[in-house]
Amino acid sequence: MSSGIGNFTRRMMTMPPVETTKTPTYNPGLEGVLAGESALCQVDEGEAGLRYRGYAITDLADKSTFEEVAYLLLFGRLPARKELEEFSTQLTANWTLPGPVESFVGVVPPKVHPMDILRTGASLLGMTDPDSADNSHEANLRKSVRLLAQVPLMITTSYRFANAKRHLLPRKDLTFTENLLYLLTDRHGDRATEAMARVLDVSLILYAEHEFNASTFAARVTASTMTDLHSAITAAVGTLKGPLHGGANEAVAAMFLEIQTPDRAEEWVKNALAAKQRVMGFGHRVLKQGDARSAIVQRQAQELSGICSNPRWYEIATIIDRVMHQEKGLYPNLDFYTAVAYLLMGIPRQLYTPLFVCSRMAGWCAHVIEQQDHNRLISPRARYTGPPPRAYVPIDRRT
Ligand code: ACO
Repeated sequence: MSSGIGNFTRRMMTMPPVETTKTPTYNPGLEGVLAGESALCQVDEGEAGLRYRGYAITDLADKSTFEEVAYLLLFGRLPARKELEEFSTQLTANWTLPGPVESFVGVVPPKVHPMDILRTGASLLGMTDPDSADNSHEANLRKSVRLLAQVPLMITTSYRFANAKRHLLPRKDLTFTENLLYLLTDRHGDRATEAMARVLDVSLILYAEHEFNASTFAARVTASTMTDLHSAITAAVGTLKGPLHGGANEAVAAMFLEIQTPDRAEEWVKNALAAKQRVMGFGHRVLKQGDARSAIVQRQAQELSGICSNPRWYEIATIIDRVMHQEKGLYPNLDFYTAVAYLLMGIPRQLYTPLFVCSRMAGWCAHVIEQQDHNRLISPRARYTGPPPRAYVPIDRRT
């Protein structure tokens, strides 16, 4: 009987030589590469900036709520009033954590970063989900709705537990975003909190989707093996965590807190640039001429500064913005003024990237569903840069 290796060698010897003239083109970081098709988000270099399923992000931020946008991304159209009510009811019904997840949150040491809790938590939610192994369109939608509700609760529960705050349950009379703010800040009902809830909601709308960014691409690559939705989401959470991607909003707040006062801002940025450091919250792989989302959130952050009678963070931000444009020709991305708004809300900075997760969950899940509904395994090539072919050296002859 011939061995498998023998068969393989014979097959190789009868195969035509590899076509070397058709070497795929190589773009470091996949820059400018079309890596798939999607009906979810269009990068529109005009005033809209981005469109979700055809709708301008400027209109959605002005007129819509995060719940409507999440529905749009998952179900493909803006909901009618009754559909939105049903969707909100489903979200509220899922504001609960399965027992093992609650136990996990209860034993995590207080110093663990919330993004690490979320990464492990997303995986754990997969183990406890009743549709875990079902990749059908309907099951993926059910899992997505549960994740949209469970993830904010995991963030708020673990945050309250780590900071020895009294246990609070989400309130049925509050919207998704009002609950999120209430569970993070214990605030609800006053004028400033109402304004904060709207700004937070707008930031969630803006964070919800952005075609093939790094975390979404990670989710799609994972989903393309036809593994389960939670595995894809776990990969996405780990990818978002990095400071070059979602982790930038936390890093921006760290920078503001280090600068402390507007009179120190200009010198701080110039020193950072002279030391060849990246200033977080600036630049974008695709949006090189500015990010329309940043302009929206800047306006919101400015208004909130007035309402909160706290101009300090906004003033620091505008100085950094000016210097970065003068010195590097770079524009702020979405993370920059969002950090101003979140600082004004009194949200601890370690929770900024987790808030991004709450929102981008809608986009990630919609991408996983789109990928698995029309799947083709994503499996590209690499350009080899290692040593040329060489003879094998037996172990006793190696130096
Ligand atoms: N601060 C200082 N210089 C910068 C910055 C920055 N934030 N961003 C880019 N540059 C410079 C680079 O040093 C480089 O300069 P050089 O040509 O003199 O070497 C030039 O601009 C081009 O930068 P690249 O890294 O090639 O741009 P790329 O498209 O790969 O990077 C990225 C995009 C990663 C977002 C980059 O701008 C960056 O690191 N920004 C800071 C992190 C950040 O804010 N991330 C959030 C992204 S948005 C999001 O995830 C929601």
